[in-house]
Amino acid sequence: MTPIESKTKKSSSATAITLAALLLVVLLTCVPYLISIALAERPAQSTADASPIFGVTIPPGYKQWELIAPAEEAAPLDELRAVIGNQTAIDAYQAGKLPFPDGTILVKRAWKRQQSPEFASATIPGAATTVQVMVKDSKKYAATGGWGFGRFINGKPVDEAQHRTCFACHEARAKSRDYVFTRLAP
Ligand code: HEC
Repeated sequence: MTPIESKTKKSSSATAITLAALLLVVLLTCVPYLISIALAERPAQSTADASPIFGVTIPPGYKQWELIAPAEEAAPLDELRAVIGNQTAIDAYQAGKLPFPDGTILVKRAWKRQQSPEFASATIPGAATTVQVMVKDSKKYAATGGWGFGRFINGKPVDEAQHRTCFACHEARAKSRDYVFTRLAP
């Protein structure tokens, strides 16, 4: 190796080390940004979990929401139900405000009626059947009274045909109450 060759080799390996170090710094600086971009762009729930037509999903944390009223459905469904709402819904109910403001979410939970194993005349919730959701967004859902609908079984939305029935029934029977049947339980 001539002295010149060895010098070139030394300086090129120095360049390589500098470049590698620079690359490392750049990568390390970028990682938090890349992670935050990836998280921001990831949809909260996949579209497979959203209802057809409306794109409504099961709202996170709904099991902690306040009760609006229970309900019971006779045979053949034989269900116990609880209609619950987010804070916007509860505030509107308490203020007696109609129509419900945008951002209102109502959820109806339902269970098979089951006789209490401890007490013959008592009925308790059996297996969960459906979770039904109504979301108020007067612009997005202008064609259906401002409400988007979703019916879920085991966390998955039911088919489009079932979602075509929601507004028709709520419109036929509860139009004067902003398409909502349930009144705040006294
Ligand atoms: C044949 C009539 C009918 C159809 C169809 C119907 N609902 Fe309802 N819905 C009711 C009645 C009656 C109530 C009142 C509570 C109860 O009795 O269960 C109700 C209550 C609700 C509530 C609680 C808020 C309220 O209005 O009281 C939600 C949420 C809801 N339905 C969602 C849906 C969704 C989603 C669909 C379509 C997949 C749907 N409903 C289809 C009759 C209907």
